[in-house]
Amino acid sequence: MELLDKLNWRYAAKAMNGEQVSQEKIDNIIEAARLAPTSSGLQPFEILVITDQKMKEQIRPISWNQSVITDCSHLLVFAAWDTYTEDRINKMFDLTNEIRGFKNEGWESYRQMLLGMYPQKDPEINFNHAAKQAYIAFGMSIAAAAFEGVDTTPVEGFDADKLDEILGLREKGLRSAVMLPVGYRDTESDWLVNLKKVRKSTEDLLTVIE
Ligand SMILES: Cc1cc2nc3c(=O)[nH]c(=O)nc-3n(C[C@H](O)[C@H](O)[C@H](O)COP(=O)(O)O)c2cc1C
Repeated sequence: MELLDKLNWRYAAKAMNGEQVSQEKIDNIIEAARLAPTSSGLQPFEILVITDQKMKEQIRPISWNQSVITDCSHLLVFAAWDTYTEDRINKMFDLTNEIRGFKNEGWESYRQMLLGMYPQKDPEINFNHAAKQAYIAFGMSIAAAAFEGVDTTPVEGFDADKLDEILGLREKGLRSAVMLPVGYRDTESDWLVNLKKVRKSTEDLLTVIE
């Protein structure tokens, strides 16, 4: 299966060569994230695309000094909502009604249920829930990049508070969840490039209940 071949080809690049990724490929990688399924369709995150080299250089020291931060072509930051508010929930439900062109009683009562549930919760719980949704989109982008023959490095190794400060995320009601440097592997200097992929066996992964 072509998709599985691409997923076998991909790996978490440890070194990138600075080569630029075409805008068309970047657009496809972002579109895959936009199309990701999310809980109640709320899409509770935004994606920042950083190409500004000075900004990348500011981010690298707070990201375990990982070279892919500066040597990637585009640095994607998946930033989740800091909490669920009435306004944010209503906006997505209103958008659904606008796009589909009708109001549905079941959908409206589902809206009321979410309004009665999420905004009252501890913002930390809401952020963690929103971040999980961002991770789904992040995974879709990783797969889409592989499909495009583009390398990525999933990056959780960074100081989120400092990244939020650098990017001014808190003021926008956002908090950084995870980063995705996008670019091309440096086959000369990446120690991981020729090593075998390691995954536990399907047997250890799977329980079939028939
Ligand atoms: C959420 C997440 C965070 C990760 N953070 C880092 C990171 O900060 N730096 C890094 O080099 N690799 C990071 N990785 C890469 C994993 O170590 C890697 O995906 C895993 O070992 C499997 O190897 P593969 O992706 O090369 O097949 C991260 C992966 C995920 C999914």
